[in-house]
Amino acid sequence: MDRPFIQVDLVSRRFENTGMAEGADLPLRYQTPDVWAAQVLRDPAALLNDHAHLEKKAAANALELLNRWPEPNPPEYWVEKMTAIARDEVEHLAVVSRLLARRGGRLTKYHRNPYAQALRELVRRGTGVSELLDRLMVSALIEARSCERFEVLSRNCGDAELAKLYSELWASENGHYRIFIDLARQLPEMRDVEGRWSELLDAEAAIITAQSPGPRMHSCPANVG
Ligand SMILES: [Fe+2]
Ligand SMILES: [Fe+2]
Repeated sequence: MDRPFIQVDLVSRRFENTGMAEGADLPLRYQTPDVWAAQVLRDPAALLNDHAHLEKKAAANALELLNRWPEPNPPEYWVEKMTAIARDEVEHLAVVSRLLARRGGRLTKYHRNPYAQALRELVRRGTGVSELLDRLMVSALIEARSCERFEVLSRNCGDAELAKLYSELWASENGHYRIFIDLARQLPEMRDVEGRWSELLDAEAAIITAQSPGPRMHSCPANVG
């Protein structure tokens, strides 16, 4: 018998009784139209391959952030939060790559994600706590966009197995988004946090709409200018 899709999902489990999973109001400033899902689902194996790579990178990002927090004042439960996210992402990677293999695909060796790369270029490097603020906000943006895209996919996917996967991942990425943005807002001695968040939300909308079309989680629909 197949294992359930998400066997362990520490972060979304924490949110399951709070009503957040149903009531996510994401602040994103570009709303993905349903036509995007129809386009990317024409090649589900390619979409799963791209998706698996993103899960791998999300796990690595959480572990990398663990190394970057300025000592000696990490926020409460910092290690627990980052390790829970990393564990979720590794589990997502296992689920997605298993599904990809069952459908005759294979995780490719190379993967590019110009969307995430463009977002990372916005990070103010070498600025101490401002750099960390930006890294947490960029992580929150990537999670929020994944969450939004999983919702669009789950609503527009005729394949029951994929629709179930996408709807389960939606709740998990929503929990991750909230953790990252909450941490950013708790950073000590930061000024104009909401102003920076607004700037980055605008930048994210510009970056996602500048992506080329194709069967990828961060592509732009073919007919959107
Ligand atoms: Fe994930
Ligand atoms: Fe995530």
